[in-house]
Amino acid sequence: MTTETLAAGAVPAGESGAGRTHWWRDAVIYQVYIRSFADSDGDGVGDLPGIRSRLPYLAGLGVDALWITPFYLSPMADFGYDVADYRAVDPVFGTLDDFRDLLTDAHARGLRVIVDLVPNHTSDLHAWFVEALAAPEGSAARDRYIFRDGRGSRGELPPNDWESVFGGPAWTRTVDADGRPGQWYLHLFAPEQPDLNWELEEVRAEFLDVLRFWLDLGVDGFRIDVAHGMVKAPGLPDVGRADHVELIGNAVLPFFDQDGVHEIYRAWRVLLDSYPGERIGVAEAWAPTPERLANYVRPDELHQAFNFDFLAQPFQAGALRAAIDHSLATAGSVGAPSTWVLSNHDTKRHVTRYGGGAVGRARARAAALLMLALPGSAYVYQGEELGLPEVLDIPVEFLVDPQGIQSGDPAKGRDGCRVPLPWSGTVPPYGFGPAGSTASWLPAPASWSSLTIEAESGDPGSMLELYRSALALRRALPSLGAQTADSALMWLELPGAPEAVLAFRRGDRFVCMVNTGSEAVTLPAPGALLLASAAVPVLADSITLPADSAAWWRV
Ligand code: GLC
Repeated sequence: MTTETLAAGAVPAGESGAGRTHWWRDAVIYQVYIRSFADSDGDGVGDLPGIRSRLPYLAGLGVDALWITPFYLSPMADFGYDVADYRAVDPVFGTLDDFRDLLTDAHARGLRVIVDLVPNHTSDLHAWFVEALAAPEGSAARDRYIFRDGRGSRGELPPNDWESVFGGPAWTRTVDADGRPGQWYLHLFAPEQPDLNWELEEVRAEFLDVLRFWLDLGVDGFRIDVAHGMVKAPGLPDVGRADHVELIGNAVLPFFDQDGVHEIYRAWRVLLDSYPGERIGVAEAWAPTPERLANYVRPDELHQAFNFDFLAQPFQAGALRAAIDHSLATAGSVGAPSTWVLSNHDTKRHVTRYGGGAVGRARARAAALLMLALPGSAYVYQGEELGLPEVLDIPVEFLVDPQGIQSGDPAKGRDGCRVPLPWSGTVPPYGFGPAGSTASWLPAPASWSSLTIEAESGDPGSMLELYRSALALRRALPSLGAQTADSALMWLELPGAPEAVLAFRRGDRFVCMVNTGSEAVTLPAPGALLLASAAVPVLADSITLPADSAAWWRV
């Protein structure tokens, strides 16, 4: 790591104004996938009062903020990522008053709340799209979306070769009032998620107003869904490739990561900054390179972008170190904090990605200590603090994710990372709902009784207690988290350490060591042991770091 990078990790001078806490630069943000977090009314679907009732758990875990996935009025074709009304709460999740109460209580506990904004597309049942379908070709109502004539002599072919992220063509043909086939509309995701036309001033104004609506209610920020998708290349040119576009990918495409998208975020930043309390924007953006991703977090754009490059790495020292260096350097080059994420509601849970079983669990424990020792902000996906694995054997009749269904490949489905959180008890759904309720929109495995919050609480060997300890230390140790120049990351080259070992310092007094190899490694003792993901024998002047483990040291 170069001295330039160290300097770039510091808070930019222009942002150090009075009253700015930069809370977000090192915040640990807990992702609540609302359908699966806590169900207050026994309908088998998590909801806002459910989250509210579990705030003591989240505050006790030691996170700084929650990001709640969409809870707006939605026909649920993509479980809330198809929004029919951006200012209304879906009855399955509660009411606007429930949200107000949740926000008040969260703030009272010192937890910030980030909501999910879905600007790339609406639901097909949004009033605008219903109006557009009923309106004639070329009308102002249709211009809010992307309608085009088909190719072929009778318009029978899609307007271009774009494929939906979920599989199949990204275009669906409409039927005119007289019953004849009409124009096609674009949907980068499901047909029930028509893409908006962000060239239109009216669309931009509407979303500024939606942002104001939630900012006025007091939210602390927005996670911006498909933040790289809103602007399409002029003329909607063919991709010219036969292979399928992955949601999680780095391809250069005419509908993702277009330069024009940044103008939108500059306008949003002005709005966010006009509110007190450092309200933030977080981009869910997939860009071809970390450099392109850094564009989203320039000082006049959004605050953070998810670091999917880190998530995509295998549990292997070289790959992790390269991703860390690259992320710190590129985010640092624009003065932004890096972010770190291991799992979310769109990807296979990392216990399983890292090999599953005891090995996957050991690696996930080590990865948690690695992530929480890195400079910047970390995202924790609900259930990772319990070590939940991906559920790979959900009976096929329960599978509901459009990505799995539309692609025709259940292995691509995301249901397995969305199974309701196990709270207590010994039988599914493990206290997910009110006492006596057995309802759960996805079935939880019979094997999860040892993975509940109740079962793991107080067990010193549990994943939950590891996260609690790590988060408490992260708060207590001044060298962790904060992106000040003097606590930037400094790699250590340890004599005799094999390539599978990563070691770095944060500040003068903190060292993190990770052994990604399958053999234990004996190394000189760096100081006093603070926390470890596995039993670490410490002798007078040497320590043994087991396979797939990590440890924190006070120097
Ligand atoms: C984002 C969401 C994902 C959703 C998609 C379409 O990638 O994280 O869950 O399906 O956008 O809105």
